[in-house]
Amino acid sequence: MNIDLLLDKMWKMYTSYTPSANQISKLFNEEITNDHIAFRTFNTEHLSINKQAKFLEQYGYYHGGDYDFKVKKLKAIHELLCEEFSNELQNVVVEISEKTKDISPEELLLGGRKWNIDLDKYNSLAKESEYASWLYIWGFCPNHFTISVNHLENFSSLIEVNDLLKKNNFKLNTSGGEIKGSKEELLEQSSILADEMPVFFGNSKQILPSCYYEFAKRYPGKDGKIYQGFVAKSADKIFESTNKNNKPFVQLSLPSL
Ligand code: NI
Repeated sequence: MNIDLLLDKMWKMYTSYTPSANQISKLFNEEITNDHIAFRTFNTEHLSINKQAKFLEQYGYYHGGDYDFKVKKLKAIHELLCEEFSNELQNVVVEISEKTKDISPEELLLGGRKWNIDLDKYNSLAKESEYASWLYIWGFCPNHFTISVNHLENFSSLIEVNDLLKKNNFKLNTSGGEIKGSKEELLEQSSILADEMPVFFGNSKQILPSCYYEFAKRYPGKDGKIYQGFVAKSADKIFESTNKNNKPFVQLSLPSL
């Protein structure tokens, strides 16, 4: 598989549960350049980001720092530091680890969920860690794609991009302001709130946040080079795009079959 095929596979998977991203990518009427794609995982032996990193190396990506992958399309891979959470959360991670012992590096990025889910477990994970509860229901898949505003020909600022989104009725993540970061920090970011998609816990259907689309504008540093890293404070706010509490929580039940 070449890199274009891999990215195409990732995009198809991501837009299957993030239909807004597909709609938005067409709003600009021009070719879209991706700034980065983010993934989530747990820091266990079988699921660690090192395994994902090794897989991506064959496509020319390299580990650029503790936080990011410094290449033009794919940068951030995030893993949860499981030992910093409760025994209950860690037990769920052990269960997931046991179900994914033979997981291939590619499946760690595109394999989705390989375990059954339980609503009570989801709710208790959600109280402790939005990240863990998201990973529990969606599994291994792209968490978000990001439009590089620098590469857009008809839009030069995030304000213009955000206006276009709002005009088309997309809801922005306003935590920490519509635009996170600043020119001084060399990176400005915004994102829509995650789409809401049905998730089945046995026969019970819940409507839960899936993924969001992000937008990034980068500035040159003192060396004149466009900044390629991330701003931790902004990322923290952007992550809230998948929070369950962003919109009223809708609970639906289906009759038993
Ligand atoms: Ni991002």
